[in-house]
Amino acid sequence: MRRPVEAGTAPAVPILALRDVSKTYRTVRGENIVALSQTSLAFEAGEFVAIVGPSGCGKTTLLNITAGLLRPSGGTILFRNAAIDGPTPEVGMVFQGPVLLPWRKVIENVLLPIEVLGLRPASRYRQRAADLIGMLGLAGFAERYPRELSGGMQQRVSIARALIYDSSVLLMDEPFAALDAMTREELNLELLRIWKMTGRTILFVTHNIPEAVLLSDRVVVMTPRPGKVSAVVPVPLPRPRSLALLGDPAFGAIASRIRGLLGPRSGPAA
Ligand SMILES: Nc1ncnc2c1ncn2[C@@H]1O[C@H](COP(=O)(O)OP(=O)(O)OP(=O)(O)O)[C@@H](O)[C@H]1O
Ligand SMILES: [Mg+2]
Repeated sequence: MRRPVEAGTAPAVPILALRDVSKTYRTVRGENIVALSQTSLAFEAGEFVAIVGPSGCGKTTLLNITAGLLRPSGGTILFRNAAIDGPTPEVGMVFQGPVLLPWRKVIENVLLPIEVLGLRPASRYRQRAADLIGMLGLAGFAERYPRELSGGMQQRVSIARALIYDSSVLLMDEPFAALDAMTREELNLELLRIWKMTGRTILFVTHNIPEAVLLSDRVVVMTPRPGKVSAVVPVPLPRPRSLALLGDPAFGAIASRIRGLLGPRSGPAA
């Protein structure tokens, strides 16, 4: 049973903790943009946490910092109590947008982390890559190049790449935004299955409130820029979850609460 964790209070041994993290960008015109301000969060191992907030409030910035891809202007990120100051294989990421290597075929893009990390045996991961490609509805496209795929298909390749090995933490930045509604629902359920099977900790950014509630144990609601945590809404709905839950009054009540917290300037409609 997962323990509920309140905003800003760390569980006994958080797998991941952000302490007073802030980020100010300096634009080419010399202006300072405060993207993120004084953000503190702690995540328990195995939690599924959704992050919602208005466009431009610093969600991608937060994930990039957590992945070690971007240096914060202030604060620290701790992975199992050790500071993260660069990318680590323990933290995987699905970027907002596919970010594939155009000269590599689909299967080679999916296998990229395996090559970079030197994981063995190669044959096992090749099989897993083929399984993931099938699971994501891309059977028959393994030997194609990214340019031969639609935007939604490319995004599914990048999801397969993030699932090819089991990093302890998986950061997902609007991974399903480019997909049609049916595929999105199917992949939501598939993601829950994979999460349960692998016990990974997932931080999932979305603009879709029902998606956030369906998937997560808690929903972090961020303020408009400069983004910080406005509220953390627990989602004490039973698991395993199915799409039938979308019609449940308890589900609707949680979604309404989040919608209220976001206010009228909540970015793209859910
Ligand atoms: N490299 C950069 N240089 C300057 N400003 C930046 C840079 N990257 C992001 N920003 C600014 O920081 C703010 C936060 O950006 P970020 O991409 O983190 O927002 P977001 O919450 O992910 O938005 P969205 O929901 O639209 O993806 C925005 O105002 C953006 O313009
Ligand atoms: Mg973003």
